[in-house]
Amino acid sequence: MSKHILVFLVSSILVVGCMGGKGQGHGNGNGNGGGLKLKYYDNLCRSVSVEKTVRDIVWSKVAADPTMAAKLLRLHYHDCFVRGCDGSILLDPTQNTTTEKTAGPNRSISGYEVIDEIKTKLEASCPEIVSCADIVALAARDAVSFQFRREMWPVFTGRKDGTISLASEVGGNLPSANANFTTLLAQFGTKGLSLNDLVTLSGAHTIGISHCTLVARRLYNFTGAGDADPSLDQTYAKTLRKLCPNPVNSATAIEMDPNSSRSFDSNYYRALNQHKGLFVSDATLLTNRQSATIAKVLENQMVFFANFARSMVKMGAVEVLTGGQGEVRKNCRVINGQ
Ligand code: HEM
Ligand SMILES: *[C@@H]1O[C@H](CO)[C@@H](O)[C@H](O)[C@H]1NC(C)=O
Ligand SMILES: *[C@@H]1O[C@H](CO)[C@@H](O)[C@H](O)[C@H]1NC(C)=O
Ligand SMILES: *[C@@H]1O[C@H](CO)[C@@H](O)[C@H](O)[C@H]1NC(C)=O
Ligand SMILES: *[C@@H]1O[C@H](CO)[C@@H](O)[C@H](O)[C@H]1NC(C)=O
Ligand SMILES: *[C@@H]1O[C@H](CO)[C@@H](O)[C@H](O)[C@H]1NC(C)=O
Repeated sequence: MSKHILVFLVSSILVVGCMGGKGQGHGNGNGNGGGLKLKYYDNLCRSVSVEKTVRDIVWSKVAADPTMAAKLLRLHYHDCFVRGCDGSILLDPTQNTTTEKTAGPNRSISGYEVIDEIKTKLEASCPEIVSCADIVALAARDAVSFQFRREMWPVFTGRKDGTISLASEVGGNLPSANANFTTLLAQFGTKGLSLNDLVTLSGAHTIGISHCTLVARRLYNFTGAGDADPSLDQTYAKTLRKLCPNPVNSATAIEMDPNSSRSFDSNYYRALNQHKGLFVSDATLLTNRQSATIAKVLENQMVFFANFARSMVKMGAVEVLTGGQGEVRKNCRVINGQ
C-alpha cells in the first residue's frame, strides 16, 4: 500500500472512531472539550508567561535527565485516568487518606519534584491562578517536545484541581500491563477514549522504561505451566530473559522500545508489529483487526505524531473540573486549607 492510501485509511478510521466514540457523553469527545481553552492564562498572569515558565523548567530538567520526559508524560496519563485530569495524582497521603500516588500501579511514578518547582515559581509571580492539573498537562507536552524544540500538541488549559484522591480508585481505572484488548477498550471507553485513541496513546511506550516483574509472566509462566507467551517474538523473548533472569529482580528496569527508548518516534509500532511489544497490553493491540490496521498505519511517523497530538488533547480533557468546580491548589501536594 502506498503512503497516501495509508494516510487516507487512517483518516477514515479516525472519523469513524470520533463519531462512534463515547466522548460526547462526557463532554470531552471532540476538540478541547470540557470548557478548556487555548492560552487560558494569557490575561490572568500579566507579569509572567505561564506556558514559558513551565517550558523553561521542563526543558532544563529533561536536558539534565533525559529519562524525565517519559516520567512527566506518564504522570499526566495517570492523573487523567483516575478522576480525570485534576491533579489528584499529586496529593500526598494524609492521616485520613491513602491517595492515588500510594496505590500499587503507581510503580515508579515520579516527576513530582519538577511539578513542585514549577508551582513554586508560578506562585511567586502569579499566586493562586495556575492549577496543578494544568501544570501537569503542560509539562507532559513540553517534556516530549524538548526533543523537537517545538510544541508537539496544543494544551488547552483552565483545569481546576480536585480535592479527592483515593488509592482505592486506581486499580479499576488504570489498565494493567496484562490487560487484554476487550478490557483495554472498555477502560479507555469509560474515559470517552476510542479504539483509535487506545492504539495511538499506547505509542507513548516509545519512550521510557518498565521493570522485569511486569513481563515475568510472559517470559516464564504464561499459562502457569512454565511456558512463554507464544505471541512474543522468540528472539526478543530470549533477549528479555537475559535481561530479566528468573526469578526476576523487581528493581531491574528494561526499556520499552529497546532500539530508541529515549527517542519519541514511531518505532514502538515497528517493534509491536514484529511481535516485540513488551506488555500483554501492547501485544494485544494486534489481536483486533481494526486495531492492528491502525498499528500498521502508525508506523508512519508523521501520521503517528498527528494522531498522538489529537489523542493527547482528548485525554487531557477527560473529566476535567472547570468553572466553579475544584480549586487552584497553593501547594500541589495538599488541598487548600489542610
Ligand atoms: C494502554 C494501557 C497502558 C498500560 C497497560 C500501561 C502500562 C504501563 C506500565 C506497566 C509501565 C511500566 C511501569 C514501570 O515498570 O515502572 C508503563 C510505562 C510508561 N507508560 Fe504506560 N500504559 C498504558 C498506557 C499509557 C499511556 C496512554 C501513556 C501516555 C500517554 C503511557 C505512558 C507511559 C510512559 C511514558 C511510560 C514510561 C515511564 C518511565 O520511563 O518512567 N502509558 N506503562
Ligand atoms: C480526618 O478524620 C477526622 C476524624 O474522622 C476528621 O475530623 C478530620 O476532618 C479528617 N481530616 C481530613 C483532612 O479529612
Ligand atoms: C507506590 O505503591 C507502593 C505499593 O503500594 C508503595 O509502597 C509506595 O510507597 C508507593 N509510592 C509512592 C510514591 O507513594
Ligand atoms: C479479558 O480479561 C477479562 C478480565 O481479566 C476477562 O474477564 C475476559 O474474559 C478476557 N477476555 C478475553 C477475550 O480473553
Ligand atoms: C506458575 O504459575 C502457576 C499458576 O499460576 C503457579 O502455581 C506456579 O507457582 C508458577 N510458577 C512459578 C515458577 O512462578
Ligand atoms: C531494532 O533495529 C533493528 C535494526 O534496524 C531491527 O532489525 C529490529 O527489529 C529492531 N527492534 C525493535 C524491537 O524495534
